[in-house]
Amino acid sequence: MSQRRPLIAGNWKMNGTSSGGAALAQGLVDRLGKGTHGFDMLVCPPATLCAPICDIAGGSSLYVGGQDCHAAEKGAHTGDISAAMLRDLGCAHVILGHSERRADHGESDATVNAKTKAAWAAGLIAIVCVGETETERDGGKTLDVVGGQVAGSVPDGATGANTVIAYEPVWAIGTGRTASPDEAQAVHAFIRSKLVERFGGEGDTFRILYGGSMKPGNAAELLALKDVDGGLIGGASLVADDFWAIAAASR
Ligand code: PGA
Repeated sequence: MSQRRPLIAGNWKMNGTSSGGAALAQGLVDRLGKGTHGFDMLVCPPATLCAPICDIAGGSSLYVGGQDCHAAEKGAHTGDISAAMLRDLGCAHVILGHSERRADHGESDATVNAKTKAAWAAGLIAIVCVGETETERDGGKTLDVVGGQVAGSVPDGATGANTVIAYEPVWAIGTGRTASPDEAQAVHAFIRSKLVERFGGEGDTFRILYGGSMKPGNAAELLALKDVDGGLIGGASLVADDFWAIAAASR
């Protein structure tokens, strides 16, 4: 593990209603307690639960984030939420450009880039997701695809403080398949090199998370990799014991 502080982020996706979500967040707050830990912990509940989960996390070290925001500050965008609305609740982060949003909502790199700027303007840290599909990997295009997504989705002005990158190979999300440590490190090192090429020494300060079927059983070897600075965890973040075990593996 690098000197960058690991970020263990839970992406609850479209899961959870009030009682279950509250119990899950409370379980994490209880485990975090008043102690200090070698990692930052973040949960990103569905928008409907951001307010109650922010209330539960208040006063603890648990961070809360959104799963998306609109690029505009406000206005006529039925069904959308703005970055400022998330910030208003106490959210500190927002996931942007997740592959499910790129696929389900046609989000392009330009869209993600605009949303990232909106997140910064509201004082949120953007977690910008990138990752290749199985066809792209099989076609030997992984680095081209990921490089293009990083170049297009991350705006000028990005710093290690306002932006986190999440590398999530699409074929590993929710499938039980993970990138091997060698595969993951190769892509993370490539992303790091692109950040350094563009942002100079600042590029070394960005946290680059791995996502895609991370679980207690495989977290330690992934989190130990030189350029892996935490995880973006879907399924295993819905069980407090599992999510905590993954965080514990980052120490
Ligand atoms: P998974 O999801 O851990 O369930 O594979 C990760 C993600 O999509 O962020």
